Amino acid sequence: MSSSLILVVSSILETPGLYEELRNDLSLIPNAVEEALRYRAPAPILQRVVKEDVEIRGKHLQKGQPLIVFVGSANQDENKFDRADVFDIHRHPNHHVAFGHGNHFCLGAPLARLEAEIALTELIKKYASLSLPENFTVDAIENSAVYGLRSFPILLAP
Ligand code: HEM
Repeated sequence: MSSSLILVVSSILETPGLYEELRNDLSLIPNAVEEALRYRAPAPILQRVVKEDVEIRGKHLQKGQPLIVFVGSANQDENKFDRADVFDIHRHPNHHVAFGHGNHFCLGAPLARLEAEIALTELIKKYASLSLPENFTVDAIENSAVYGLRSFPILLAP
């Protein structure tokens, strides 16, 4: 399974009844992929260098200063997203920044979305049931620039 697909599937399986809901209505799959991008933010930080002295919300930033932008945090901003800590595939609108924003917006976003949607559709069509082992806990890799899971055991029923 690709790392993006793992993030979508793990988010789905952690939400009781959601796998069945998607299986009954495959048109919800793009929403599920979009919400997993918001909720899990596979690229959780971006790096920038301040171009000119500026003040943002009372913070003085100096030209040349390195900056880390927390995409994962912006995607969980409760001023922007209602119940931001909940994985909700019916969220609308869902203006997350998992693919960045502005000039450097991810060139591969349409491909990444399409791949995840196709893979998830085929997985759901093939298996009547997918579930997590009883003692499952999210085991994230130790990398602040890329979010992914170290291991992802699942139980499949055809
Ligand atoms: C889930 C998968 C992906 C995520 C979460 C992701 C995320 C991002 C983010 C956050 C940026 C902005 C970087 C910045 O502003 O500094 C970015 C840029 C970029 N991504 Fe992706 N990406 C994904 C998949 C892909 C794929 C599949 C491709 C190519 C096939 C791709 C190609 C690029 C390129 C070329 C840029 C640089 C765009 C620029 O600087 O103008 N990405 N991506």
